[in-house]
Amino acid sequence: MIEVAGPYQTDIAVDGLEGLRKLKQDEYDIVFTDVKMPRLGGLEFMYEIKQSNPAIPIVVITGYSYLETAISAMRQGATDFVTKPFTFDDIKYVLEKAVRERSTIKSLADGVSNDSLVEALNSELYRKLRGINTLFSLSTELDEIRENDRIFQRIVSMMARLLIAKNVSFGLVEDGFLEIRHAIGPERETRVPLKGTAYEEALEEKGHTLLEVGGKNPINGCTLRTEFLIIPLVLNSEVLGFLSITDKTDGYAFTDEEINLALTLARKASLRLENNALYEITYNNLINTLKTLVLTVEARDSYTKDHSERVAKLALEIAEVVGCDQAEKDAIRFGGYLHDIGKIGVRDMILLKPGKLTDEELEEIKKHPVIGSNIVAPLGSFPLERLLIRHHHERFNGTGYPDGLEGEGIPLIARILAVADTYDSMTTTRPYRKGLTHEAAVKEIRRCSGTQFDPAIVRAFLTLRPEKGRSEYRGD
Ligand SMILES: [Fe+2]
Repeated sequence: MIEVAGPYQTDIAVDGLEGLRKLKQDEYDIVFTDVKMPRLGGLEFMYEIKQSNPAIPIVVITGYSYLETAISAMRQGATDFVTKPFTFDDIKYVLEKAVRERSTIKSLADGVSNDSLVEALNSELYRKLRGINTLFSLSTELDEIRENDRIFQRIVSMMARLLIAKNVSFGLVEDGFLEIRHAIGPERETRVPLKGTAYEEALEEKGHTLLEVGGKNPINGCTLRTEFLIIPLVLNSEVLGFLSITDKTDGYAFTDEEINLALTLARKASLRLENNALYEITYNNLINTLKTLVLTVEARDSYTKDHSERVAKLALEIAEVVGCDQAEKDAIRFGGYLHDIGKIGVRDMILLKPGKLTDEELEEIKKHPVIGSNIVAPLGSFPLERLLIRHHHERFNGTGYPDGLEGEGIPLIARILAVADTYDSMTTTRPYRKGLTHEAAVKEIRRCSGTQFDPAIVRAFLTLRPEKGRSEYRGD
């Protein structure tokens, strides 16, 4: 039997198969297993153990990103889980808990009838499953949230639900104060000085703190009549803010299990925040790189300067009239700006050639929508933008390029951009020709309605005020 206070006698197996072999040869009191292992994975390993030795406690070890796997393992009968990176204290905590649970079951089994034992085990199981199921649904929900403020808001209500507490708040640490952002419970202060409070200590320790009954409420200074739990949200090793949880509705103190669930959820939220921050940095870098590419194209040909920006703006105006949804408008805003990015792959002597192009030169220019869509292709998160870039030279009657798409087979946003692009190109003055007037350009677009352009888009374009079209998009 394991001595809880240690020393512990341990043994290791390199994978699930070796683990099974060892379990058959010797007696063990508890098993710790990783989820991802060669030959026999953690979940299969656990399943096999349960077949021959259902009573042995199994603890699953996993990364935060695989929290759902750990929770699934719990549902399939794992005793507990530990998330990586873990400390010796984490291991000690689950070890002691597992041993405690086992001895409770043993003493119940020794002293009471079978019926009572089953009842006690059932209620213990129910309590555990309830916590795990709540954690599972909350953790899945967190994965869907992109905005940080929504995460703060949701984590407050999640903690209230998970810990059965009616007074929960989240505040950000700013200049020595805790700025409360979201709260459930009675009216409270919105700005709490950290100095001299339990928050100050938790800030240094970067860990959670449990204040006992009779202590001082760090938010309002009153004497605590129920326990007060402080949990930090850590972002890039810095404490971003604190969750404060008190007034348990069920009237009891926080159990170790509840605190552990709350800490797991808080770590999950921290990971989500870190992912969001990373996503934002990557996204912004990417957008800046693409914008630089567009500027490079435009810098080569000073007469097309600001063309992309004007086209995107005009296309957006048309999209409003047509009633495009938010995703389409976002694609037009960004994709419109990038629509000619493929010209980076067209040689200067062709791109900048004044006057008429030969057939071969025209063929090379015609490659730019495909080159452009290939440039953004590796960025899986811009599928609409990619469509818009690829198809902005398709024609309504099917005579355009690169794919000769026809009618509504051409993506709506590309049909919109085609009108805006042509209007801006026609009204731009080139070294070899003067730009058309607004009226002449509109006349030409009207003439090509039904052949080059979608008549519905032309009608939407014509509803825009002419003077607006000219002054805003041409800058005249
Ligand atoms: Fe183009």
